[in-house]
Amino acid sequence: MGRLEGKVALITGGAGSIGSATARAFVAEGARVVISDLDQAAVDAVAVELGDRALGVAADVTDSDQVAAVVKAAVDRFGGLDVAFANAGIAGPNATIADYDPAAFDQVLAVNVRGPFLLAKHALPVIRDGGSFIITSSVVGLTSAPGICAYATSKHAVVGLMRTAAKEVVDRRIRVNTIHPGPVDNAFQDAVERDATGQDTETANEIFNSMIPLGRHARPEEVAAAVVYLAGDESAFMTGATIPLDGGMSI
Ligand SMILES: NC(=O)c1ccc[n+]([C@@H]2O[C@H](COP(=O)([O-])OP(=O)(O)OC[C@H]3O[C@@H](n4cnc5c(N)ncnc54)[C@H](O)[C@@H]3O)[C@@H](O)[C@H]2O)c1
Repeated sequence: MGRLEGKVALITGGAGSIGSATARAFVAEGARVVISDLDQAAVDAVAVELGDRALGVAADVTDSDQVAAVVKAAVDRFGGLDVAFANAGIAGPNATIADYDPAAFDQVLAVNVRGPFLLAKHALPVIRDGGSFIITSSVVGLTSAPGICAYATSKHAVVGLMRTAAKEVVDRRIRVNTIHPGPVDNAFQDAVERDATGQDTETANEIFNSMIPLGRHARPEEVAAAVVYLAGDESAFMTGATIPLDGGMSI
């Protein structure tokens, strides 16, 4: 019997690296999943791979009506909702605060903060008692570095959202937690590292490996494994937690 047998989950950013790895892990543990992302073809590709336990629904997480529609699609298709994973995110440009484009700042906050807020707003009322709400923050939701003011601000902000939500839904035993991945071996992070270092991908990866105590990037599946734990009943006593998955980078 899978660790998520009988549960229905919704994942934003579900066509991306961490989101699709989590969708695969959820289905492997017996859950049914709604995979949501910007592009219908991209979510369909993941859903087709996962078969009739998965449904792909396109939505922009910054649009309240679209997020409400995804939540409704999960309930309509699978009869309820137990887990919501607010995982969609963008990095924004690398620039000092003095040089940071205000429009770019707003866009990062819209996707990375308004997005999880809208998912919490629409999903928490329908998540069944004992369910789980998980937000993807970052190691830079606990620390920061020069050049990433919008991203680091957004990833700190969701900790406040998480703590508020955790207290608001505790009477229904719904748990709310943030995960804080360090550098993951994927295209999102490759771009971040090229921007931060001005080097090619391989050199930038090596520079970042030297900053990570465990000496390497995470695999998306390692992040997904923690999300499976948070989604399931094994973590029934865990709420309000900020969980580093960063190879020791935030020590
Ligand atoms: N890659 C890393 O090293 C790393 C580290 C820490 C945290 N994170 C966070 O993990 C999460 C997932 O990132 P990833 O590494 O899988 O990168 P990714 O780019 O593969 O996935 C992010 C997904 O979010 C989607 N998205 C962007 N804007 C959206 C919007 N407005 N509405 C709906 N979907 C939207 C993208 O289409 C993409 O599929 C993000 O929140 C990111 O900030 C990533």
